Amino acid sequence: MTIFYFTATGNSLFVAKTIGGKLYSIPQLLKGRYFNFEDDIIGFIFPIYGFALPRIIRKFLENIKYKSNYTFAIGTYGNMHGSCMNNLVKYFTKRGWKLNYADTILMVDNYLPIFEMSNQLQIMQDKHIDEHLKTIVNNINIKKAYIPKTTIKERIFTTLAQIFVSRFINKKSA
Ligand SMILES: Cc1cc2nc3c(=O)[nH]c(=O)nc-3n(C[C@H](O)[C@H](O)[C@H](O)COP(=O)(O)O)c2cc1C
Repeated sequence: MTIFYFTATGNSLFVAKTIGGKLYSIPQLLKGRYFNFEDDIIGFIFPIYGFALPRIIRKFLENIKYKSNYTFAIGTYGNMHGSCMNNLVKYFTKRGWKLNYADTILMVDNYLPIFEMSNQLQIMQDKHIDEHLKTIVNNINIKKAYIPKTTIKERIFTTLAQIFVSRFINKKSA
């Protein structure tokens, strides 16, 4: 099993380590020139930013070529994942790739402008991280096929967030 991960504060790395296999850091890979991979199982693990993929994951996906029999993606998030994974499934389909399993896992929220780390640590046990992670590991081991359904509320929030990011945040940083 080969896993590509991106992590800022360790949640996604923790998930990657728990699932196991050969782990590759996406920022490290992007520094090199090797983007051809082949394995029976290939996985992508990353934090969800603004109900979407972090920019570095999009860049990586634009560059990578891979072959696998089973492909999965896990988004870690702290509060609300929006339609991130469904949009990723659409992206894979557009590229002619197949995502067999897409899931999310609620973890400690590291978006510090809104959430305080001390509060986050207090509510950590309510998030049932270990139980959920066990289920995800088991699902991957049995090569379960699963793509979550997105709700209207998630789609509305995601669209609004994307408009906000493209109008105000991307413009500012351009
Ligand atoms: C810039 C930024 C944007 C984020 N956006 C979201 C979000 O839209 N929804 C959410 O639930 N959590 C959001 N988070 C929280 C992270 O997705 C969450 O804490 C994740 O597990 C962090 O993973 P990491 O420790 O591997 O970096 C955001 C965090 C950052 C820093």
